Amino acid sequence: MEKMIIRGGTPLRGTVSLSGSKNAALPIMMASILTSEPLRLRNVPRLRDVETAMCLLSKLGVQASWTGDHEISLRAEKITSHEASYELVKTMRASFVVLGPLLARTGRARVSTPGGCAIGARPVNLHISGIRALGCKIQFRHGYVEAHAERLAGGRIWLDSPSVGATENILMAAATARGLTVIENAAREPEVQDLARVLIKMGAKISGLGTHVLEVEGVERLHGADHDIISDRIEAGSLMAAAAITGGDVTIDNAPIADLEAVIAKLQESGVAVETSGKGLRVARSRKLTPVELRTLPYPGFPTDLQAQMMALLTQAEGTSVITETIFENRFMHAQELARMGADIVLKGSTAVVRGPSKLGGAPVMATDLRASMGLIIAGLAAENTTELSRIYHLDRGYEALDLKLGKLGAHIERVQDASV
Ligand code: EPZ
Repeated sequence: MEKMIIRGGTPLRGTVSLSGSKNAALPIMMASILTSEPLRLRNVPRLRDVETAMCLLSKLGVQASWTGDHEISLRAEKITSHEASYELVKTMRASFVVLGPLLARTGRARVSTPGGCAIGARPVNLHISGIRALGCKIQFRHGYVEAHAERLAGGRIWLDSPSVGATENILMAAATARGLTVIENAAREPEVQDLARVLIKMGAKISGLGTHVLEVEGVERLHGADHDIISDRIEAGSLMAAAAITGGDVTIDNAPIADLEAVIAKLQESGVAVETSGKGLRVARSRKLTPVELRTLPYPGFPTDLQAQMMALLTQAEGTSVITETIFENRFMHAQELARMGADIVLKGSTAVVRGPSKLGGAPVMATDLRASMGLIIAGLAAENTTELSRIYHLDRGYEALDLKLGKLGAHIERVQDASV
């Protein structure tokens, strides 16, 4: 196993490019199940989760291959299995969104339920009730969801909360269902919109993109398509926080500026200079950081996937910041690790009170999930001495070549073998 060694204290400077969005790429890859024709995707990030998705699709009979550095071709000429195993779904929860497309294409699906995860219980009840409303029979047996339907029929679905995964699963199930499906209180995340754009390219009739009400008029069949995955807004926000904590000056040349409004606003409120132009986004900090209050919310609110990174940054603000996590009930695991580096963070339920500025000192730290890992790296970039981050397999699930990108901006960061494991 590998670990990451970070020596803090160098302001990041230079220009960096974003990779394609992991959370857009994964459900879009699953959309390949909906057609026997090829789906060609560009700007696909080279990540462990993408490899897991390729593996899952291959097991279902999809011919999945890399056709370029960041290009894949997926062809589901024939679906040969209806099952997504526990082994795969527990490795990557996003696998659960095969349920909708498998059922739509073949009338059958057997998909393992994902179980809890490090950041929360993460039930799938909204996926199930939504897909059930499209006229299929669902049973739970031995840890699996077993679903059958001759042909799905459109239905009206109200989501109790705007779940990203449930919206994606239902969208794919509804694309070829008979009649009209209306999803109310649908997720509006840019990644959901990117999936809807791919489905439309494949022949689906979907309206309401970017709003809380999505309407899907089912079509007989879908065809192949070519698509460029959107840039990763979470990678962008992570690099912005990294630049800001080091007092650096970084330009992100392909930043999805419109998708980052809440993040840009919070960084500006905390004293970070953020300039946007046709060429991208420039983040610089030359003055002290001001404390802020922050709540994570569904899009277009501040993303939960940037909460850990923002917490790391706010350890350096002059005063008390308050962070409230409203999406996941257990997403503060990084706080204890940040405290081991010298941060002053008090947790009370879903709120973290961060008093700054703290003098951070490098320490051996351990990440519990992908975004927590990034938060610890950001803290490490501002810490004295070296920070040793173990369990970086979490990081490799969602950040492409992060050490190389940060290294090019001047960070002292390297991967080494973790002899202690
Ligand atoms: C997606 O997860 C992302 N994953 C997550 O990114 C992200 O944190 C999350 O959306 C929120 O933005 C992918 O896109 C692959 P949800 P998802 O369904 O779809 C509750 C990362 O670090 N809920 O919108 O699983 C749920 O428990 C990851 O890249 C139900 O109660 O998120 C949570 O509290 C982590 N029942 C809230 O809704 C359900 O059936 C939001 O979850 C579904 C969800």
